[in-house]
Amino acid sequence: MDITTTPAWSALVRAPKPKPAHLRELFAADRDRAARYTLTIGDLRVDLSKNLVDEPVMRALIEVVAASTFEERRQAMFAGEAINSTERRAVLHTALRAPAGTRVDVDGHDVVSGVHQVLAAMAVFAERVRSGEWRGAGGATIRTVVNIGIGGSDLGPAMAYLATRAFGRGDLSCRFVSNVDGANIAENLEGLDPATTLFVISSKTFTTIETLTNAKAARAWLVDALGVDAVPAHFVAVSTNAEQVEAFGIDTANMFGFWDWVGGRYSVDSAIGLSLMIATGPDRFREFLDGFHLVDRHLCDTPLHANVPVVMAALGVWYSNVLGAETKAVLPYAHDLRRFPAYLQQLDMESNGKSVHLDGTPVATTTGAVVWGEPGTNGQHAFYQLLHQGTRLVPIDFIGFARPNHARVEQHDLLISNLFAQGEALAFGKTLAEVRADGVPEHQQAHRVFPGNRPSTTIMAPQLTPSVLGQLIALYEHIVFVQGCVWDVNSFDQWGVELGKALANRITPELAGVEPTMHDSSTAALIDWYRANRT
Ligand code: F6P
Repeated sequence: MDITTTPAWSALVRAPKPKPAHLRELFAADRDRAARYTLTIGDLRVDLSKNLVDEPVMRALIEVVAASTFEERRQAMFAGEAINSTERRAVLHTALRAPAGTRVDVDGHDVVSGVHQVLAAMAVFAERVRSGEWRGAGGATIRTVVNIGIGGSDLGPAMAYLATRAFGRGDLSCRFVSNVDGANIAENLEGLDPATTLFVISSKTFTTIETLTNAKAARAWLVDALGVDAVPAHFVAVSTNAEQVEAFGIDTANMFGFWDWVGGRYSVDSAIGLSLMIATGPDRFREFLDGFHLVDRHLCDTPLHANVPVVMAALGVWYSNVLGAETKAVLPYAHDLRRFPAYLQQLDMESNGKSVHLDGTPVATTTGAVVWGEPGTNGQHAFYQLLHQGTRLVPIDFIGFARPNHARVEQHDLLISNLFAQGEALAFGKTLAEVRADGVPEHQQAHRVFPGNRPSTTIMAPQLTPSVLGQLIALYEHIVFVQGCVWDVNSFDQWGVELGKALANRITPELAGVEPTMHDSSTAALIDWYRANRT
């Protein structure tokens, strides 16, 4: 369904921009604006007041969501219908965090009991590693877990491991290898003792060339040091593809499964989170899942105007489709969330970077935004200049916490004061009159004006715990889902990654000696140049 043909969409695009137009005036005109536009979801306090909206705009946005297929597709998704239509698959990451005893049927079979069986097996294994009962081939305790995977089989566990570092143990650490660039595995094997290293090979399909290449390199490294008989004690797999796991040489008794209804970028809460569970323990992992589930319930049970993922998704539609923003920045004021923007890039851009509707017809609006970000305060000394005084509209999500996961409380106050200051400066700016009143010399005055009126949302939580992390991830998962419904795209396939993969498979042997086949003149010249220079 093309949303642009609905009366709700016509009303939205015709909607007058907020009046008064500047956030300064909007705040001055409404003393309760902060309270009016602050919503909560679990432990998250979401202050939306510094967005470029007023009540008529918000109403028009919510009408657009209501006019979309969101409510129908939400029901279908949670019920296990095959809403990933191009792959004819259910989309059930929400079942991964459903409490035991819940029932969700796919093809007449309950999937939640299977989820809990795998969780139980993961917990037994994680505890065996953590307690030292699971030993390397020579009898040594495991000290390092190396997850080898890419995309959703890397970004989720790598991001979540860093985010929950404070809940881990000093004597057991994780590393993450993803890139097919040999530098990545070389760097991560550096300083490791094969006798105390466990590899978790994570791949939904177990056919991904980067992962299999790195897994083979890891196997060779281990066999070189400990011999081939050591492999079973040092390699486990996470996959949906038992046949390929076996073909690789990993005993399927040491494989943790998941299902085709879990998309790669929605899989951190499946067995793909095994390294995270080993690092934090099964109880913390359960808290992580409960955080997701809480947000799932909110998505289902909360009226649209108070439904945080719905409202945030609607704001994204406003900025992208009506105000013309091309990008969206996510700026966590938490060093431990430094991989969160990269995680969100896959979640959002692989999901909604689409240009045809579900029925294959071209979309009439822009779809998913470019997502980017860095943790504060580093970004302040790099790209914030453009955010404050540049010509582009960049809506921002700030994320911060009341209590740090470390003891340097004064540094935390400094960090959070910066977060609050940035939102305030972006929204309210500094006028020429204020610049002049500061006694700024004339030749600098125009350069030191801050236009303000630059939108941001501020998400705060008491502390970055596993549960809060689960809540944050689920919030963004559902924002992506709601936007996919509005734009009527399939948020759960990723055909756009296929062509490059196929061409790379053709080019790889050509670099090493096989005569190049037909390519365009640029690609052919690049191949020739590389062949001439590679040794
Ligand atoms: O790049 C495409 C993709 O299929 C992602 O969606 C996925 O997360 C990643 O590759 C890794 O896939 P796999 O887990 O099957 O190795």
